[in-house]
Amino acid sequence: MRVTEGGVELEVPGEQTEGIEEAVFYNPRQELNRDLTIATLRAYREREERATSYLDAMTASGVRGVRAAADGWDVTCCDVDEEAVDLARANLERNDCEGRVEHRNVTALMHEEPFDVIDLDPYGTPMPFADAAFANCRDLVCVTATDTAPMCGAHFNSGVRSYSAVPRNTDYHAEMGVRTLISALARSAARFDVGIEPLLTHATSHYVRTYLELTHKPTAADAAIDELGHLYHCEDCLYREADPGLIADPLETCPHCGGNRMLTAGPVWLGHVQDPTFIGTVRDEIPYTFDTAPKARELCDTLAAELDEPTHYDQHKLCRNWGLPANAMDEFLADLRDAGYAASRAHYGGTTFKTDASVGEIRAATENNLD
Ligand SMILES: C[S@@+](CC[C@H](N)C(=O)[O-])C[C@H]1O[C@@H](n2cnc3c(N)ncnc32)[C@H](O)[C@@H]1O
Ligand SMILES: [Zn+2]
Repeated sequence: MRVTEGGVELEVPGEQTEGIEEAVFYNPRQELNRDLTIATLRAYREREERATSYLDAMTASGVRGVRAAADGWDVTCCDVDEEAVDLARANLERNDCEGRVEHRNVTALMHEEPFDVIDLDPYGTPMPFADAAFANCRDLVCVTATDTAPMCGAHFNSGVRSYSAVPRNTDYHAEMGVRTLISALARSAARFDVGIEPLLTHATSHYVRTYLELTHKPTAADAAIDELGHLYHCEDCLYREADPGLIADPLETCPHCGGNRMLTAGPVWLGHVQDPTFIGTVRDEIPYTFDTAPKARELCDTLAAELDEPTHYDQHKLCRNWGLPANAMDEFLADLRDAGYAASRAHYGGTTFKTDASVGEIRAATENNLD
């Protein structure tokens, strides 16, 4: 079957349906992810001019590699699957693109050779590939993780195994996934004296995507580890508290409602997950010829404006918990700001937001208009 995406034409096997992430070789539902990848690569080239080589580590149809090669990157596509390798080669040729194609386990390749940018896009968790990616990558590691249930704490044991952390299932589950993933990536990079800085991160339709800029210095690795900590969460009133540091000091009772149904999650990444200035450049690099342009640009706007807080709230979930009707989002956020708190929408859903107010302060600031 022939598909066109971002100006390149690709042959992909069989009928590709919008299905479960795991099952498909070329997933049309990941087009937003790929459009944002190309825009991020363009923005990154402006930020770091020496960056020229791009490893599409799990290439499948070759779509990412072909799109990056068409954009002038020095591309290597890799896959363990023979069909994938043949397809990637044919798709590069079909688009008159130069590019090397490797049929092998990408972990070995990443240990052997340095690349400026590495893109990890495996089925499920990327963690088995993380060490090899950080061992030699120079500038930017791009990571997709589709195992949201483990990362968010819904499939608890699997999450603990993959991320060497304790993720907990909360009302901000997608963000729990984001912060569990980046925590594990930061600890993997630190083993190589590499510090990570997330430039852009989004949780969209059952996957998390993050772009990590690397600094090759032990002090940068230390600084990244300093961004780790724990989250204490009350299952009754949805109070949450962030506690920096690798040693947890869990709360036995909730400081807000006095309940004892407290959860501790961590170590999670408590640092910033967006660089608003960089995201502004990415946004400007999304041409309207990309099919997902309106959605991708809107996502960039929301990401850039998102407050730097480690968890978000969902207005509807809060109101349900309070037994009160919800308000229009703009009015709800205006009430918070009028009361002196910072407040922004969050990209996790239409009724999600971030604020520096605690759960009690949110209620006090907004409940007069919840009727
Ligand atoms: C989710 S698909 C990649 C999708 C593709 N990047 C895209 O955007 O359409 C995952 C691919 O990783 C490949 N893969 C799995 N383990 C690998 C390994 N150790 N080395 C190289 N490729 C691997 C699989 O064969 C499969 O083609
Ligand atoms: Zn509580």
